[in-house]
Amino acid sequence: MTSFDFFEATGLPVPAITEEQAARIAATHFGLSAMATALGSQQDANFLLSSDAGDPIGVLKIANPAFSLAELQAQDAAAAFIDAAEEIRTATNISEGARIAEIDLEAKFFARIIRFLPGGTLSEDTYVRPAQVAAIGDLAGRTCRALAAFDHPGVDRILQWDLRHGMRTVEVLAGHVADQHRRAAVEAAAAAAWQVVADLADDLPVQVIHGDITGDNVVCAGSAAIPDGLIDFGDLTRSWTVSELAVTVATLLRHEGCEPATTLPAIQAFHAVRPLGHAELEALWPLVILRAALLVVSGVHQASIDADNDYASSSLEDEWRIFQRASAIPIDVMTAQIRSALGVAHPAEPITGRFIDDAAAGGIVVVDLSPEADAMDGGAWLEPDCEERLAADALAAGASAAVTVFGQARLTRSSTLRDASPATVATGMELWPGRPLTLVAPWPGSVTVDEAGGAVTLAGPAGTLEVRGALHPSGAGGHRAEAGDALGSVNGRVWIQLRRHGVGQVPQFVRPEYAAGWLAQVGDPGPLLGLPLAAGLADNGVALRQRRSRAFAEVQEHYYDHPPRIERGWREHLIGTDGRSYLDMVNNVAVLGHGHPVLADAVARQWRRLNTNSRFNYGSVVAFSERLAATLPDPLDTVFLVNSGSESDDLALRLAMATTGRHDIVAVAEAYHGWTYATDAISTSIADNPNALSTRPSWVHTVPSPNAYRGEHRGLDASKYAPEAVSIIEDLVAQGHPPAAFICEPFYGNAGGMALPDGYLKAMYGAVRAAGGLAIADEVQVGYGRTGRWFWAFEQQGVVPDIVCVAKAMGNGQPLGAVITTKAIADAYRSCGYFFSSAGGSPVSSVVGLTVLDIIASEGLQENAATVGDHIVARINELATRHPIIGTVHGSGLYMGVELVRDRTTLEPAVVETAAICERMRELGVIVQPTGDRQNVLKMKPPMCITRESADFFVDMLDRVLTTGW
Ligand SMILES: Cc1ncc(COP(=O)(O)O)c(C=O)c1O
Repeated sequence: MTSFDFFEATGLPVPAITEEQAARIAATHFGLSAMATALGSQQDANFLLSSDAGDPIGVLKIANPAFSLAELQAQDAAAAFIDAAEEIRTATNISEGARIAEIDLEAKFFARIIRFLPGGTLSEDTYVRPAQVAAIGDLAGRTCRALAAFDHPGVDRILQWDLRHGMRTVEVLAGHVADQHRRAAVEAAAAAAWQVVADLADDLPVQVIHGDITGDNVVCAGSAAIPDGLIDFGDLTRSWTVSELAVTVATLLRHEGCEPATTLPAIQAFHAVRPLGHAELEALWPLVILRAALLVVSGVHQASIDADNDYASSSLEDEWRIFQRASAIPIDVMTAQIRSALGVAHPAEPITGRFIDDAAAGGIVVVDLSPEADAMDGGAWLEPDCEERLAADALAAGASAAVTVFGQARLTRSSTLRDASPATVATGMELWPGRPLTLVAPWPGSVTVDEAGGAVTLAGPAGTLEVRGALHPSGAGGHRAEAGDALGSVNGRVWIQLRRHGVGQVPQFVRPEYAAGWLAQVGDPGPLLGLPLAAGLADNGVALRQRRSRAFAEVQEHYYDHPPRIERGWREHLIGTDGRSYLDMVNNVAVLGHGHPVLADAVARQWRRLNTNSRFNYGSVVAFSERLAATLPDPLDTVFLVNSGSESDDLALRLAMATTGRHDIVAVAEAYHGWTYATDAISTSIADNPNALSTRPSWVHTVPSPNAYRGEHRGLDASKYAPEAVSIIEDLVAQGHPPAAFICEPFYGNAGGMALPDGYLKAMYGAVRAAGGLAIADEVQVGYGRTGRWFWAFEQQGVVPDIVCVAKAMGNGQPLGAVITTKAIADAYRSCGYFFSSAGGSPVSSVVGLTVLDIIASEGLQENAATVGDHIVARINELATRHPIIGTVHGSGLYMGVELVRDRTTLEPAVVETAAICERMRELGVIVQPTGDRQNVLKMKPPMCITRESADFFVDMLDRVLTTGW
């Protein structure tokens, strides 16, 4: 029998074989007693064979009779070849001698048993992570690398999937697409793609390829579901090597939220293994479009000839989605974007000439609209006329013209609470004239005037210059201009764009993901105005991250593997250099929100006036100490001012030791209190220090973590923690080591912001005082109104500590900490000498502290924490009814944690899942991080100014991630 030729074949309905027949074939031809369960396939009949115990034995593949024995032998040989050459789990033929049995039913079929690869595929159209995207690209690259040395007579066949025949197949099958609009779109896109590919065809390397490395045909490993296995060699053929990658890239586009830019990690990974040549780079995206077109026409065709094949019919909308996404970005733009991602971009030649007279060119002022521009302070970009106002300011200062920056990501084009990144990057520039300004042709070319649109274009060999806006054209257009001829006079704001030769329409603003691709289509108009070339796209964090790792000790870790570069904050939002805005759910320190202008002004005023130290006599340190003491109940009336939480806890320990003359400290297990020598000693959170439990000095004694959700005593049983912990204090006394103090967070931070069991602190404070020690409340995180109902979290427990430590919120990010205690305890420090902290309580720090307290009160932030916090809890509790991964929500006010579990009974922590969910949340515009010893709690401690709308955005995005995957 000759090899398959799609153009000669009549159709490929799946062999109609039942599960009973399949089990019989396994027994008769392969001596296997197994249960057979049908698996979906577009062309063959596949059955999972399993033992009576349900363990998989292999996959029985009954090939479509259209394929010859040689073709099946080639597929088995290729699988074995890859298996030997690469670390890829491969679906090889596992019967003795890789046997292929010929079976007689109504027709003759070839059957074989293929290795079953455990782990599941990426068949669903749910979200795929960048790591999975990269892994599938890597798999495709390694498959090509291995198969480059493979050959077999059975690979010379003519498949509809071989992109070398792609256009012909589309032409043959397009008639099956009943929807005329879809059919026309597919035909047009395929023809445009083919035009590019045909010119490159002779330069595209050819080899044997798998031809179908798609989500359905890769198998994943581990809880991270990283594709590392390959099945279904049914489309093995000789073709262009780059087709292997095009097929894989196209398949990714079916997944939730995937778009051309999301596939770049796959292309980068492929290129790292099997570098793409020039022609391959140019052909890749057109081939992706062609493959997408093929999927649409073949899907419709297959569904029409095989109406019973659910597998084929259910994929039709997926295929259409792939096509729409593949063709959404122009080929040239995507190719340039791919080149940029691979570091092989064509260098752009600047386009030169003179567009305005020299006198005007002299006085042009550039208006910076980037996220880093000073003019953006105080949320200026949110005013609708921000760009106009800044230009007017520049002109008022005497500029001949004001212009914006080509290729700049503009904060004025950013938007908060968006789940897609906004189009921020300018592909041209605006110009506002300060005095009458005539534009002249920088080169000879033909002039077009669009009166209605207020646009003049000059097309010349270098490109097309377009000016649009408040412009009076010099002539009606349709004529030729010589260099220096007037094109028009500008009397208001105009937009200038310089498109390179042969480039069609380019949007004024494009999304950062495609900015490199779009900017390759245009030139910088700046030099035509006598300005230097613009700096180009701002670093989005990659370059900075490399510098950081060289200069900044790496143990100071950073969020995310690929952190965006954040250079501005505003209220509960953080903004990247690409103009992308993120909702900040983690910055508990910035209670007032980011960039608070009242605080900034107060600090600046004080800096200009005086900053010295607390040995001098000035008002602010006294006023701040009085204000702080006034927030606390009697007898807590005496204040020490320091610079951080670690310092305040450290000082509290020293005060307790000085007061009691003892050295032993009792602390709660799994807590964090700081990094100084003493606070590190009492911290046993293994998230911060994996060796924390084994390296405690002998003076530190821990009591069990009073975790009512997953600790030893749960729910109502949590009342047992206090008596057990009290007995530890009593034992210490009995052993002759009475403690100097018991230290504890009054709301349990490291467990995810959990309230302590009722009565816990009452019992513990009572016990430590009965032993002659002191009670220290670490309010570093939880104080200052964050819990909503209480300003100090110890109030929730109905106790008054002897020493209160606070920091973080006190300074809204300015280094500020305090210890507040009784006069007697404060005076005991005299035995250590006297206390001085150079910057603690400085005039600037004191003014910060006072202003923060003022704003918390005047803006009602504690009340906001209570109402918005309650709203979030209610909404997450609703999510929990639909998403079993939500174990519970801890916390109060805006001190919360969503604990994620794999099983609500065993409470197995969903650790990998929590990290992946945080990554995807960032992609969707929310900064949230894992916390806790098990890193399975989503920490939610946003700035206390967070609005209900922002809270809803957070919950909506969480819902989306939990629904569509991470
Ligand atoms: C409860 C608690 N105490 C103390 C500290 C240490 O504070 P700082 O980082 O300001 O030194 C922290 C910091 O996270 C904390 O959460």
